[in-house]
Order: sequence, then structure tokens, then C-alpha cells
Amino acid sequence: MSKTRIDALSPGTFLLDGQEVEFGPGDTVLQAATSAGHYIPHLCWHPDFSANGSCRLCTVKVNGRSGAACTVQAASGQNIESNTDELNAQRKTVLQMLFIEGNHFCPSCEKSGKCLLQATAYEMGMEGPHFEEFYPNRRVDASHPDLLLDLNRCILCSLCVRASAEVDGKNVFAIDGHGIQTHLVVNSPSGKLADSALKPNDTAANICPVGAILHKRIGFATPYGQRRFDISPISQQVEEDAP
Ligand code: SF4
Ligand code: FES
Repeated sequence: MSKTRIDALSPGTFLLDGQEVEFGPGDTVLQAATSAGHYIPHLCWHPDFSANGSCRLCTVKVNGRSGAACTVQAASGQNIESNTDELNAQRKTVLQMLFIEGNHFCPSCEKSGKCLLQATAYEMGMEGPHFEEFYPNRRVDASHPDLLLDLNRCILCSLCVRASAEVDGKNVFAIDGHGIQTHLVVNSPSGKLADSALKPNDTAANICPVGAILHKRIGFATPYGQRRFDISPISQQVEEDAP
């Protein structure tokens, strides 16, 4: 893009894949793009919570340099590239690594068809895991009378952590450890959900983008063909995420 084209943009707009996008005060690139109906792949971002910047799926190029769209502040005249072969290939690799790092039993998962990880993998054209599976042996916490925590499916997005702290005011969840040992912990005397303050109506109990936190006694309530991402691909449901 020529410098003349950037200079010609009105204040409060940037270019996303060649299209002009308006932004408001304090908007990040991802917030502004989503509000304007443009899809940028993401996993750990949610419009209602502070950005976390951990999954790196939303990585875009800002004036040629890589940055996480959920944390980069929008600025006038930015030239943002997102939907490119190079960036989508990187996203597919990140998704493949997430799939092999955990145990994602999609066909038997209650979240199948409405899972952000699965829908994003379809969107990025992921057809197989590519890498060797880790098959980790992770804990399933079924101690709570109404809720189930399956760490095999946790992608460490920290949304339950932020929801519990920022909305529920309970701090039920936290992320602990480093590198491959990073894991979700439950803040209770026994480390089990049953001894925590988590309730079924809490935001933290209903925010998980994958099938790691599930409600008991609800199984495949929405028939196949009518689940969220059966209706249309995630890139066509941007309005659901609009701040
Ligand atoms: Fe994210 Fe769900 Fe894991 Fe919490 S349990 S960190 S919401 S994937
Ligand atoms: Fe931006 Fe996860 S959505 S890093």
C-alpha cells in the first residue's frame, strides 16, 4: 500500500486486509475488527473480559510486524494483515499443537458443534493432527454435584480464571506451572471443585470455549445439525462476539 493511501485515511480508521475499519477510543485491533464484522481467529479473547494474549491465534501483521490483535491498540493508518496464507498456516500449526497436546475426544464431547477450538480448526482447514499425539494423563474432576472439569480438554485460555475473578468475585480458578507443566488449578482446600465456591450460574461455569467445564446431566441437548457451528462457520458469526 502506498504512503499516500495511508495518509488519506480518516482519523480513527485502519486498514484490515485492504478494508477500512473504524475504531473507538481504547479499542484493540481485534475489538475494532469484530465490531465492524471482520473475523480474526482467536481463542483466549472474549469481548467481556480483559485481553490475555496467550493463545497467539489472533497474531496479525501490523505494518509488517507480528502482534496479537487482541492486545495491539488500534491506531490511525495502521496496515493490518490477517487473512493471509502465511498467517493462516501459522494458526493451523498452533491449532494442531493444541489438539495433540491434550485429549480432545470431539465425537463424544458435549461441546462438539459449539466448540471454539473445533470451529476454528475447521475454519483454518485443519484436516488432521499432523504431529504425534502426546496422550497426556490428565485429571477429570467429577466431585461437584452439578459441574464437571475435564483437564484433558483445557486449552489454558484462562477465561474461567478471568470470569471467576472479574465477574463472580470468587477466584475459583488459577493457572499454575510453567511450559509443558502449565495447568489449571482449583482454589479450594482439597483442590477439587466440590470444595470450591463455584456455582452452576457463575459466569466461570459457563464461559469455557471448549468442553473442559461442563454441566452435568445435560447431554447433547441441541440436535446435530442445529448446533451453533452446524448453522454457519465461525467466520460468519462475528456478530456473536461483537463487544
Ligand atoms: Fe479455558 Fe476452559 Fe481451560 Fe478454563 S477450563 S482455562 S475456560 S479451556
Ligand atoms: Fe489474542 Fe489469544 S486471542 S492471543
